[in-house]
Amino acid sequence: MRLRLALLIVAASSALPSVYAWGAAGTVIFYPSASARRPNASSGHEIVATIAQIHLHPSVLPVICDLMDIEPSDHSEASLRRQCHLAPIATWADRERMRMRWSSAMHHIEAVDDNPGDDCQYPGAGGWAGTKRINLLDAIKNVTGILADWSGVDEHDNSGRTLLVPTAPRRATFLRVGGRSLSPRPAGPREKEAFKFLVHFIGEFHQPLHLTRRQRGGHGALVYFEGRLSNLHRVWGTGLLARLIRIVPPQYSSPLPDRSDLPIPSQQIELALRHAIYDPLVRRVMWEGVESKWINDIDDWISCPAVPTAPAPESQSTSILSIVSGVLSNPWTLPRALVKIVSSASRERVDILPDGPRVCPYAWSTPVHALNCKYVWPPALIANATKPKVEEFSHARAARPPILDTPAYMAALDDNLVLEKLVAQGGLRLAGVLNWLFATKEA
Ligand SMILES: *[C@@H]1O[C@H](CO)[C@@H](O)[C@H](O)[C@H]1NC(C)=O
Ligand SMILES: *[C@@H]1O[C@H](CO)[C@@H](O)[C@H](O)[C@H]1NC(C)=O
Ligand SMILES: *[C@@H]1O[C@H](CO)[C@@H](O)[C@H](O)[C@H]1NC(C)=O
Repeated sequence: MRLRLALLIVAASSALPSVYAWGAAGTVIFYPSASARRPNASSGHEIVATIAQIHLHPSVLPVICDLMDIEPSDHSEASLRRQCHLAPIATWADRERMRMRWSSAMHHIEAVDDNPGDDCQYPGAGGWAGTKRINLLDAIKNVTGILADWSGVDEHDNSGRTLLVPTAPRRATFLRVGGRSLSPRPAGPREKEAFKFLVHFIGEFHQPLHLTRRQRGGHGALVYFEGRLSNLHRVWGTGLLARLIRIVPPQYSSPLPDRSDLPIPSQQIELALRHAIYDPLVRRVMWEGVESKWINDIDDWISCPAVPTAPAPESQSTSILSIVSGVLSNPWTLPRALVKIVSSASRERVDILPDGPRVCPYAWSTPVHALNCKYVWPPALIANATKPKVEEFSHARAARPPILDTPAYMAALDDNLVLEKLVAQGGLRLAGVLNWLFATKEA
């Protein structure tokens, strides 16, 4: 079954970019990482995982240690918080992608008509592009389903469990208990794999470029950033976060003040920090965002709409041509207008699974996708050079790519805390899903 699936995916996905990641996995790695003095391609996922770690319910910690094959040396809560840490496995799915070629297309999702910043459709009338069930949103539903089966929670069980539960003496926060059975059977390879995918995929859809097809999610959009030639995907995966880390004010280099009116004790934040280069940024996102500006939004971030939004029209046509042309051509090397023709003529349109009441990646990712038009590719800010007219295409390579980090572009991001909010939402949603899956009511 897996072999057949894998073959199908290899065939179909040769029309897709082979690697999408939050960060530049598969492309030139921008920063030396050995010393970890500079952020690298993994940093975005690790930051999301660290923010999630802060918000995990204590009863979740031993469960995730089991899923990560970690034998905690000591079962105190403080020790479990340190040892059962999500960050080291947050980029497992990228590291293993060569072994698991079939999983490559699960790192992103594409709508047929989406072309930011001219047209932000998610999905729009043309529906979704790709192969049925092999996309970021369905992958999240799949791995969550596997873990829910294992832990014994039911997404449709509403028996009075949609409640906020304190996790510590202080109100520490945002937990929906799914009512897991107290001792599930030991985790097997299937659950362990699903868990590592889940941690990665929830981070993944908080990178807007994983939600658009334009120029392979920005990999093909050359830009100058900080005086160096790069591409939009790499800048959003690494460069912008590196800059944020650089400009964190110095007070965030030490633990936050412990104010009793804040939901999360400073100590609980510190236990999730691992002397990483992004620790000060995590403290800043907590202090200025999660525990202040956004404190009243978080319940919405981790909730799902009462009536799930219909994510896509049913697929209209399925064609064997789609697979054949997927093998024969790589549309990403073609001019945009041609891509549209090739796509509409041959690529299979697929429907995706509906959102669930507790885990709703389509609803959660919709505003993230919209950032592509508002901040990532706004025509007014990076207008011409990344999207040549077809007749100009042969000259476009010679044209100088635009400078991305203009004052206007950066001010729009900074003033609206765009990146800070994305990592916060990723972290809170990851914690919300894990708490729902694995917390025990009694704890
Ligand atoms: C990035 O740095 C981390 C340490 O923060 C390290 O564990 C990881 O392997 C590095 N990743 C890459 C892709 O270089
Ligand atoms: C996950 O996907 C696999 C492979 O397509 C499928 O066999 C399985 O039933 C799915 N599981 C859930 C819970 O959706
Ligand atoms: C883009 O091109 C049009 C026409 O060629 C021009 O009027 C416009 O100013 C350009 N925009 C930018 C931001 O350079």
